[in-house]
Amino acid sequence: MNKPFNDVFLKACRKEETPYVPVWYMRQAGRYQPEYRKLRREHSFFEMSENPEICVEITRLPVEQLGVDAAILFADIMTPVKHLGIDVAIFPGIGPMITNPIRTEADIHRLGELDPVAHIPTVLEAVRILNQQLSVPLIGFAGGPFTLASYMIEGQSSKNHHKTKGLMYAHPKAWQVLMEKLADMTLTYLKAQIRAGAHAVKVFDSWVGSLSDVDFRTYVAPTMRVIFDELQKMGVPTIYFGIGAGHLLAEWNKLPVSVIGLDWRTSIRSVRAQGINKVLQGNMDPSLLLGPWELIEERAKQVLDQGMERAGYIFNLGHGIFPEVQVDVLKKLTHFVHQYTTIPEVW
Ligand code: CP3
Repeated sequence: MNKPFNDVFLKACRKEETPYVPVWYMRQAGRYQPEYRKLRREHSFFEMSENPEICVEITRLPVEQLGVDAAILFADIMTPVKHLGIDVAIFPGIGPMITNPIRTEADIHRLGELDPVAHIPTVLEAVRILNQQLSVPLIGFAGGPFTLASYMIEGQSSKNHHKTKGLMYAHPKAWQVLMEKLADMTLTYLKAQIRAGAHAVKVFDSWVGSLSDVDFRTYVAPTMRVIFDELQKMGVPTIYFGIGAGHLLAEWNKLPVSVIGLDWRTSIRSVRAQGINKVLQGNMDPSLLLGPWELIEERAKQVLDQGMERAGYIFNLGHGIFPEVQVDVLKKLTHFVHQYTTIPEVW
C-alpha cells in the first residue's frame, strides 16, 4: 500500500501553517550517493536522466534514504536546450560544455523550438511515473533565461559572464529575441512537466546575481514576469533561485513568484528586515556539511530560528550538496530539522 501523501512542502509554499518545517536539498540526487556514482560510471549524464527507469530510481533515492519532504526531478537545466540545436554534454567537475556556442545574431535566429512530445518524451514519462509512485511532492524545474543564455554564449560555466553581458549591452535587440526564445522554451518545458504531474516548479537562475539591480530590471525582469505570470495560471507553486543574488531580492519580491530561494550569503533575518514577504527557502552553507556535527546542528538551529518566525518557510542548503558529503550527515540533518521544528501536540 502507498504511504499517505505528505503535502507539508506544498503547504509551506502556499504560506499555510505546517506541523514542522519541510526540508529537501538542492542536488539531493547526485554524486555524494554511492548508488549514483555506480550508475554514472556506466552512463553519461543525459543517458541517465533520459532513461525513465534510471531517472525514476535516482529521483526516488534521496526521498527514501534521507526522508526529505519533496523530490526534485533528476534532469539538468540544459536538458531542453539540447533540442534547440545546441550541442551540449555534461562533464564531471566541469558541468555543461557546448561545442557550438552562440556567436552571432544569426545564431540566435537559427535556434529551434522545444516540442515536448518529440523531444522529451522520456523525461515526461519519468514525471508521470514519479507522480504515481512518490508519497511526497515532485518539483519540476528549468533554468532561468539569463543563466541558460550564459551557458549558450560562453560555452561553459563562466566567472564574469563577459561575452553574455557584452551581447546584452551591445545588441539589446538580439538579446531581447534570445530572452523571448528562452522564455518560450522554459514555459513550454515547465508546463509540460506540470501537465505530466509535477506539483511545483523551480526556476534555477544561478548566474543572474552577476547583474546589478538596474540591469536585472532592464534586461531580465520583464522576461521573468512573463514566465511567472504564465505559471501562476497553472495553479502550482513556483520557486526562484539564484546565487549571490541578495541585491536583487527587492526586485524578485515584485514578481508573481511564490517562493524565493536564498543562497547562504544573505541571512533570512536581513531579508525579512528589507520587507520581503514571500515564502523563503534555504539557506545553510553547503560547505558546513563537511564540518563536525556539533557545528552543523548549531548553524541549522540558527537558520531555523530565523525561518520559523513565520508560516511559509522551507529548509534547504544555500546551494547544491557537494560530492564529498556523507549520506548519514544529510540523514541526521533531515531528522534534526523535523524534530527541532515539530509543534508539540496540545492535549
Ligand atoms: O537538485 C537535484 O538533485 C536535481 C537535479 C539537478 C541537476 N542539475 C543534476 C546534476 C538540478 C536541479 C540541476 C540544476 C543545474 N544544473 C543548475 C542550477 C543549480 C546550480 O547548481 O546552480 C546549474 C547551474 C546546472 C549546470 C550544471 N550541471 C553544473 C554547474 C553541473 C556541475 C558540474 C560538476 O561536476 O560539479 C552540472 C552537472 C550535474 N547536474 C550533476 C548533477 C547530479 C553532477 C554531474 C555528473 O554526474 O556528472
